[in-house]
Amino acid sequence: MTKKVTTLTLQEMKKAGNKIAMATAYDYPSARIADEAGMDIILVGDSLGMVVLGYENTLRVTLEEMIHHGKAVVRGSKRALVVIDLPFMTYQVSREEAVRNAGRAVQETGAPAVKLEGGADMAKTVGRIVRAGIPVVGHIGLTPQSVGQLGGYYVQGKDEKIAKQLIKDALALQDAGACSVVLEAVPWQLAQLITEQLLIPTIGIGAGVHCDGQVLVFHDILGLQTEIRPKFVKQYGAFFNPMTDAMRSYINEVRGAAFPSAEHTYTMDEEIVRRLRED
Ligand code: KIV
Repeated sequence: MTKKVTTLTLQEMKKAGNKIAMATAYDYPSARIADEAGMDIILVGDSLGMVVLGYENTLRVTLEEMIHHGKAVVRGSKRALVVIDLPFMTYQVSREEAVRNAGRAVQETGAPAVKLEGGADMAKTVGRIVRAGIPVVGHIGLTPQSVGQLGGYYVQGKDEKIAKQLIKDALALQDAGACSVVLEAVPWQLAQLITEQLLIPTIGIGAGVHCDGQVLVFHDILGLQTEIRPKFVKQYGAFFNPMTDAMRSYINEVRGAAFPSAEHTYTMDEEIVRRLRED
């Protein structure tokens, strides 16, 4: 039987200096691909909104949408630890609501853990969710749910004041019981400093090579989206054009009646056909 990755595995990986590979997935086939490849963590990110649902940002994603997609990802993952992003406004209003919504995310999807955005300001909320028995991954630096307040998707922590705050945020999340922290779009030196100070693993996205692990969006890894390409994205495939070409070939064959050929067609006894025609 495949041994599942757990939060303990992540802890051991950090101790042993083994890097953690994490990617997003949003449905059964994408989860199967990532899991089969050996991904340690699969994140059902609220990037779902932009990547899969075509929203302008992540703010419109609902808990119902996360649960719907989370269930499919859990069904497609045998080994990876599946983490569900808590969407905007499901954990900010009150700690009670946060615990209830985190509970729904794990209970209804079957995923063991959740992720939420915010640092020291969210530490008490993280603590409450953890005390309810749910592992929490923190997320600091560029936090897309605060895009309005941040004024855009910019690198965070280049200046001393914000850098100091991000160190405090990471430590506060660790003290609150978070099992890991995502560092998004921060200078590599700051990410290295935070990684050295924390006992829990850091997972970087646009945070340099010294983090304990890395996360990228499924569609970015495979080159399935062509609209947005931040500096930190590396494409390991370029499947948008070949997939569009495959679709074009299908359309052309349908229009030219070249598909389906005999190979893709069922047949029946000609005698029955003759009788049917005579009826
Ligand atoms: O929603 C998401 O995909 C994320 C990762 C990019 C960290 O939060």
